[in-house]
Amino acid sequence: MPDRKNLLIGVSGGIAAYKVCNVASYFTKMGVNVNVVMTEHGAEFVGPITFEALTKNPCLTSLFDGKSDDPVAHVNLGRSADCVLVAPATANVIAKLANGIADDMLTSTVLAASCKKLVAPAMFTGMLENPATQRNIARLREDGFEIIEAEEGRLACGAVGSGRLAEPEELISAVEQVLFGSSVLKNKRVLIAAGATREDIDPVRYITNHSSGKMGYALAKAARSMGAEVELVSGKTEIMPPYGVSTVFVSSAEEMYSAVLNRAQNADIIVMAAAVADYTPAEKAPQKIKKSEGEATLVLKRTKDILAKIGRDKTGAQVVVGFSMETENLLENSRKKLAEKNADMIVANSIANAGTGFGVDTNAAVLITKDSETESGLVSKDELARMILEKAAELCKK
Ligand code: CTP
Repeated sequence: MPDRKNLLIGVSGGIAAYKVCNVASYFTKMGVNVNVVMTEHGAEFVGPITFEALTKNPCLTSLFDGKSDDPVAHVNLGRSADCVLVAPATANVIAKLANGIADDMLTSTVLAASCKKLVAPAMFTGMLENPATQRNIARLREDGFEIIEAEEGRLACGAVGSGRLAEPEELISAVEQVLFGSSVLKNKRVLIAAGATREDIDPVRYITNHSSGKMGYALAKAARSMGAEVELVSGKTEIMPPYGVSTVFVSSAEEMYSAVLNRAQNADIIVMAAAVADYTPAEKAPQKIKKSEGEATLVLKRTKDILAKIGRDKTGAQVVVGFSMETENLLENSRKKLAEKNADMIVANSIANAGTGFGVDTNAAVLITKDSETESGLVSKDELARMILEKAAELCKK
């Protein structure tokens, strides 16, 4: 593979090293050439053999262990890397990297690399908050390293606080941006609404739909990797928001309306990928509704149409994208939505075909604009997201 990307992962001594196995495996499966180097302490937590099996490359822990035929493996691994990820990065490794100390395989290799370097700290809260560590992290930032912030949570010592390694999904998303990012949407602000809304009936029950949020989250991830500043307004989902995306969670259609409208003015591209309820209970019962004999009737009232409102208010420079999910008359109904909601594009998808619709990782859609109709074919939601945003970027220029 002539343009095969090279990822170098540096693993130092922390229990969170186990999370990095997923990252190494993910990128190897994707066709990226992954090399892992470890500190001696890192190798106490996860054996190098694990990374060798996952990446099909030697995992070097020492400059002199003779595992590599290359006498200057640290120089060549460092120089050939397109992205370096140090995860977990201990206070000690951070201190060394901030000061250019290269006294083992990991620090020597990272020092030799000139590509984009990501550092994901993981340590006990007190060590992270220590002024020395904070100084070193600030120094790394000044030197062009990107820090993938540690999260709050339960730490290996049993305490709860800041210092937990970011989740593998976040590490993966950060690396993907470096390896596959583009600048198609540079300087553009993209607002995306995703997931299902929940309409409360009483304090116990609600009405919702099958939307998983996957398409909207794929759009947020793709927009970020294309260089945009991204805001995501999300209904409740099971998936993690993508790295580097500012996310606000909402519950009802009314809350989504306010959250989207508050942000819409500042956005260049707005994508309504959310499955917004068209109806909500006319009244939310303050107490749990008790059952009684016979049938029950629930009175519903219409919600506000967010896409239509954005379409009405949009400025000439804004591009508004809506989705249309149909079980019949897909194109005809979707063309109607394009006109009625004054959108610039409607992504029309049918849930009638295999591999499309709720919960799955693939989709097939027709991208309908005033001037064109483009069929995506059956593609991953990530791929479809890129296609939609490329089209939206073209419309921005018009
Ligand atoms: N939408 C919205 N606000 C609503 C309902 C829908 O912004 N209250 C948006 C969706 O996010 C989607 C588009 O409108 O981008 C199409 O939604 P859909 O429910 O498929 O179509 P509707 O216009 O609601 O028409 P119908 O329910 O009759 O199919």
